[in-house]
Amino acid sequence: MKLLWAVGALLLSCWRANASTAPNIFTEPSEVTNQTNAVLRCNLTDTSLPIMGSQWLHNGKVIEKSVTTDPSPHTTLSLDKITHTNAGKYECVFLTNPEVKKTIEVKAIPHVSAYKHSEHGNEKDKGVMVCVGHGYPLPTDWVWFKEVDGARQQLESNGTSGKYMIKTTPNNTTLTINDLSIQNDIGDYVCSGDNGLGTHSDTIHLRVRSRLAALWPFLGIVAEVIVLVTIIFIYEKRRKPDEVNDDDDSGSAPLKSNSTSNHKDKNVRQRNSN
Ligand SMILES: *[C@@H]1O[C@H](CO)[C@@H](O)[C@H](O)[C@H]1NC(C)=O
Ligand SMILES: *[C@@H]1O[C@H](CO)[C@@H](O)[C@H](O)[C@H]1NC(C)=O
Ligand SMILES: *[C@@H]1O[C@H](CO)[C@@H](O)[C@H](O)[C@H]1NC(C)=O
Ligand SMILES: *[C@@H]1O[C@H](CO)[C@@H](O)[C@H](O)[C@H]1NC(C)=O
Ligand SMILES: *[C@@H]1O[C@H](CO)[C@@H](O)[C@H](O)[C@H]1NC(C)=O
Repeated sequence: MKLLWAVGALLLSCWRANASTAPNIFTEPSEVTNQTNAVLRCNLTDTSLPIMGSQWLHNGKVIEKSVTTDPSPHTTLSLDKITHTNAGKYECVFLTNPEVKKTIEVKAIPHVSAYKHSEHGNEKDKGVMVCVGHGYPLPTDWVWFKEVDGARQQLESNGTSGKYMIKTTPNNTTLTINDLSIQNDIGDYVCSGDNGLGTHSDTIHLRVRSRLAALWPFLGIVAEVIVLVTIIFIYEKRRKPDEVNDDDDSGSAPLKSNSTSNHKDKNVRQRNSN
């Protein structure tokens, strides 16, 4: 029992020694949740360390305007308008040896956007729609709806063989509709992502083409070829009688007048020679 106490005391003193010598940062607030703006503050508790300056990082990237060579153990960062674009992990870094840093998480309602706002598929084929989540934290709960007469009807994943298949990764979700039908599947689909602070959604319009429609470009080419062949055929057929006419008609007026005048000249000459 005495040994246990001794070990305990030793551990306690080690922990205390560590706590007092290791440089630490006091942050305020420790986290920002669902706020429109905030001022992040960091104070270095052990001010005996030489400080060469400080800076802030956002998701691991240095915020250029926060870089300073000021040896102050205090640093602040103002976020005037918090949205999904500037939410994330903020870190204050004191340029000491070694560096001391601490993270403040800034959480906001996520942003969800459709990969494409209009998708199309062929009848009996698959329709695939993708939505991507942005912000911090990323949506954890994804739901797909179909809009039917202004009301939202939630779609359930029924595995690979079912009508709907929903696949979700941390930053995106994919809805696959099997065996597309023109009667039932054309319409607006809504993807909705929730990260615990709020929900954001986007809408995709799905069009379904009939199988015949998919054939139309091919049928168009066939029709074009038929028309071309017909035109060439008719032209070739008409050219033969034309050529015969050409010999009679072509340049008839000037040639005839020339030839008659020539004949006259000949006649004159002949008469003269006579
Ligand atoms: C940080 O230090 C400044 C100046 O000493 C003080 O005014 C402020 O209250 C401190 N903030 C925190 C969060 O400790
Ligand atoms: C799909 O699954 C849901 C429950 O997840 C069930 O209510 C529905 O009947 C299923 N639909 C089909 C077509 O299997
Ligand atoms: C989703 O996240 C992965 C890694 O987390 C990333 O490689 C990919 O580019 C992201 N996709 C989109 C569309 O943002
Ligand atoms: C969805 O996210 C995963 C990883 O998070 C990524 O591999 C994939 O490319 C993404 N898909 C799209 C369509 O962005
Ligand atoms: C976050 O703020 C929005 C309004 O800006 C509010 O509707 C929502 O309920 C809040 N979420 C939490 C978890 O407080």
